[in-house]
Amino acid sequence: MTPAERIERLRREIREHDHRYFVLADPIISDYDYDLLMKELQSLEAAHPDLISADSPTHRVGGAPLSAFPPVRHPIPMLSISNTYDTAEVRDFDRRVRDLLVDTDPPAYVVELKIDGVAVSLRYEDGLLKSGATRGDGVQGDDITANLRTIRSLPLGIPVEHPAFARVEVRGEVYLPHTRFEKMNRLRSERDEPLFANPRNAAAGSLKLLDPRQVAERPLQAFIYFLRFEDEPAALAANSTLDSHYRRLEWLAGHGFPANPNSRRFDTIENAMTYCDEWEQKRDALPYDIDGMVIKVDSVRLQERLGATLKSPRWVVAYKFKARRAVTKLKDIHLQVGRTGVVTPVAILEPVLLAGSTISRATLHNEDEIRRKDIRAGDTVFIEKGGDVIPKVVEVDLSQRPADTQPFDMPSTCPVCGSTLVRSDTEVAVRCENTVCPAQVQARIEHFASRDAMDIDGFGPAVTEQLLAEGLIHDIGDLYTLTREQLSALERMGEKSADNLLRSLDASKNQTLDRVLFGLGIQHVGERAARQIATHFRSVEAVMNANPETLVAIPEIGPAIAESLARFFHNPIHRAIVEKLRHAGLSMTLPEPAPRPPDTGMPLSGKIFVLTGTLQRYSRDEATARIEALGGRVTSGVSKKTDFVVAGEDSGSKLRKAGELGVSVLDEEAFEKLLVTDDAQPSQMELKLD
Ligand code: IVH
Repeated sequence: MTPAERIERLRREIREHDHRYFVLADPIISDYDYDLLMKELQSLEAAHPDLISADSPTHRVGGAPLSAFPPVRHPIPMLSISNTYDTAEVRDFDRRVRDLLVDTDPPAYVVELKIDGVAVSLRYEDGLLKSGATRGDGVQGDDITANLRTIRSLPLGIPVEHPAFARVEVRGEVYLPHTRFEKMNRLRSERDEPLFANPRNAAAGSLKLLDPRQVAERPLQAFIYFLRFEDEPAALAANSTLDSHYRRLEWLAGHGFPANPNSRRFDTIENAMTYCDEWEQKRDALPYDIDGMVIKVDSVRLQERLGATLKSPRWVVAYKFKARRAVTKLKDIHLQVGRTGVVTPVAILEPVLLAGSTISRATLHNEDEIRRKDIRAGDTVFIEKGGDVIPKVVEVDLSQRPADTQPFDMPSTCPVCGSTLVRSDTEVAVRCENTVCPAQVQARIEHFASRDAMDIDGFGPAVTEQLLAEGLIHDIGDLYTLTREQLSALERMGEKSADNLLRSLDASKNQTLDRVLFGLGIQHVGERAARQIATHFRSVEAVMNANPETLVAIPEIGPAIAESLARFFHNPIHRAIVEKLRHAGLSMTLPEPAPRPPDTGMPLSGKIFVLTGTLQRYSRDEATARIEALGGRVTSGVSKKTDFVVAGEDSGSKLRKAGELGVSVLDEEAFEKLLVTDDAQPSQMELKLD
């Protein structure tokens, strides 16, 4: 056998084993034997660099870490699908479909599990994986090709039996199975890294990592549920059974893609719904999360005829499961003091299994809520986990209430520092106003270090608590003074972890101004507001010296944020913290973005837009994304340079200014026309839109 033949054979075998292991869950060789095959292939490829190819299993993890993901435009927009929790609405869906297809037989439906993960799209050209992207805003996503290549259940190459099958787009869901998720969180907890709230967040966070080598260590998996050929007519001519979505799922499975084995085809909506009910009962038995079922018209030709509304295709509906409930005993009500001093009551529960995880705490929101539901320590309660993560107490089973329970009373002093709690007239929350309350200090430091703020890996609750207890830090400003000796002397912290932590601290010095502002934990200043403020001022000095009037002139910044920000920086304690950070070498700036090349050939290249008022069909973000996807730019203030002002309802001063300067004004209808007529030519793959 020539080296070329041996290499080809090894690749084939390894692909087959990957498929058996990751897709079929039916491995036939040991990990050891697998590693031997892989090593042999690696050394042969090293000896014959001319024989290396992009779809070799040795090439899953490659390339240097990126600094950001390039944007990509989806050739077929990734629309969302309409959701329902209600069987009557599923029947309405069926009726609408049949009304639109009066001249044909009633359509068959395919029912699939709705995987609770992250939607991705992959393009194969000449059988090779060319690119992969996140959904993004549906029009434009992030190019995450390198990360998707690391998912071993996704083929890097597929057989092409016919030229019509050479270029395809597939879509699916990247997810983490429960066991892998729990293991990952266990490891993170040992390393004192912030935990992921659920498998979906963990999958999303993993795909957003800029270093593919790190992604490869996350045990991500995928299911593919959508297939479009670039040349649909030719593909259908080559194989007419591919008119059926169900057959497409089989085609996908036959070409090495992970297709979910639980998809079924039904002749009537009633049978389809029965199948949905079955899974609503059985879903806890699955090793991954699903949040409902998806019902699709089987015929692809009919799908195309049905087309889509602006928001979602008409041939598919998601039947979402209702939140699951569990019954347990509420042992006690604890009070938790957050970083802004808000005191939140928390239910301490008899641990109970709900939706695959053990729940022992649930939020009770505030005193009013507890009163309204009359929740008492000792009660038997129903808890629910909705689409989101934090379980809540929804109802008390009064028939089970013991005789000696007492209504809940909010104490008048902080459970941590003892200072008097304050209740303002404007909010239900009760606050500890002692800014040096140890609970607040700890929560503020944790927030500063958290992933969405300064992202200091290894600086979690356990480390923070020890450092505070030892008196090594007192506020955020002290983090950067920590030494290797101080850190490695901490319990459960070796020299290696100390070095890692110092490295993360050092790396965080370059975090941009928006993250610093968010990390400082200023009341009302969330990530979005921080970004707007940072984009306007670009340096921390400028923010510190801004007065409320200049602040409210920034888009999306209202008086509450402006005042809170001004008050924060008026406080000498906070100014001192920023001074310490500057002294430690933090940059705390937001560099100006590189100017875009004036004409990149996109329909709206070089055009400057200002959005004002409320649009009916687009949020600000969506409108901005649409404009940017076509090469345009959105700015906040109207000037002579502005090309268009898009004016929704209740437009105010910006509309007036446009009039004064003679800038073109578009209403929503005109704006939409511009997006459509200036849109790139729809490709053959594009689904029909209204
Ligand atoms: S079909 C045009 N099928 O659910 C095709 N989506 O809430 C539209 N999802 O964005 C998607 N499992 O991320 C489809 N079997 C499945 C799915 C599925 C999960 C996700 C997908 C979609 C979201 C809609």
